[in-house]
Amino acid sequence: MIVKNILVLYYTQTGQLEEILDSIISPLASSSDVKIHKCFLEPNPPFPFPWSSEEFFQAFPESVLEIPQGINIPNLDLSIDYDLVILGFQVWYLSPSIPVYSLFASEYAEKIFRNRPVVTVVGARNMWVMAQKVVNEKLEKAGATKVGAISLCDKAPNLLSVISVIRWMMKGDKGPYKDFIPTAGVKEEDIRNASVYGEFMKESLLNNSFKELQPKIYKNKGIFIDHRIFMMEKNARRIFKIWASKIIKKGSYGDKSRSRVLKVFKVYLLAVIYLVSPIASLVFYLTYPFRLRAIHKLENEFRQFL
Ligand SMILES: Cc1cc2nc3c(=O)[nH]c(=O)nc-3n(C[C@H](O)[C@H](O)[C@H](O)COP(=O)(O)O)c2cc1C
Repeated sequence: MIVKNILVLYYTQTGQLEEILDSIISPLASSSDVKIHKCFLEPNPPFPFPWSSEEFFQAFPESVLEIPQGINIPNLDLSIDYDLVILGFQVWYLSPSIPVYSLFASEYAEKIFRNRPVVTVVGARNMWVMAQKVVNEKLEKAGATKVGAISLCDKAPNLLSVISVIRWMMKGDKGPYKDFIPTAGVKEEDIRNASVYGEFMKESLLNNSFKELQPKIYKNKGIFIDHRIFMMEKNARRIFKIWASKIIKKGSYGDKSRSRVLKVFKVYLLAVIYLVSPIASLVFYLTYPFRLRAIHKLENEFRQFL
């Protein structure tokens, strides 16, 4: 019996991403011919959780400009020839979280990914596409073969999930709160049902072919797509880069010298979310029929980068 080795790499603050990954790998973990190697990406120094408001916004410029920091992966065994690598990541400010892209900047990246099939798994609020693009580019550079992508998101209405996620990040409390704020994060049911993607991976490994993996994931709702949110995300990322480049000039991560400008950015961000984005949504829906061609183009883009 040939044992298949699967490497699972992830970082998580609340445990949500680990829950998602555990559900996905459950059909593989219960198989006697599969060995799972789970490795936590340990940022050095660690990030706080729950975050204070200051700490939360201090992470903005480095996230957007993709400035890496040190990471340790204590359980990583590079002497194993992994048959599949599963990379879990969350999104911070429309970019892969700092610990995850720090992996790509580290000495480990090529050793882990070169010539290996890789499935990515995102657990985010609802804006993950631009971060996925960054991860795809990094994987390509590291020589990986992308064979699948899964994204699980918070399906609550956009403006409510902004409140619930900020509450979760700053108080450590998922909610629900005061009748109208829903529970933050990916639904329990969606996490449970994610085990089906592990079944697909198992089939692919046993057949020695990943050709059918992504179409099956896509067909079984393994990709969260909202065109309206993607449109906003594309514009927001451009604007985030401008802000981040200005803020970084004031000082490096944690510097008090940039606290004031970060506070201005916070006000700007909340104003954009609550004042501009409802108007942008309205315009999007009113012009929807005229956007169909652009939307189909977008859809192709989604398929291509997976
Ligand atoms: C600093 C920070 C910024 C975030 N920015 C985004 C974002 O731009 N888009 C998004 O969908 N989720 C965003 N989130 C939510 C995370 O992607 C993720 O869902 C949440 O942090 C829980 O992940 P974890 O417990 O597995 O680390 C952000 C979270 C943090 C802490």
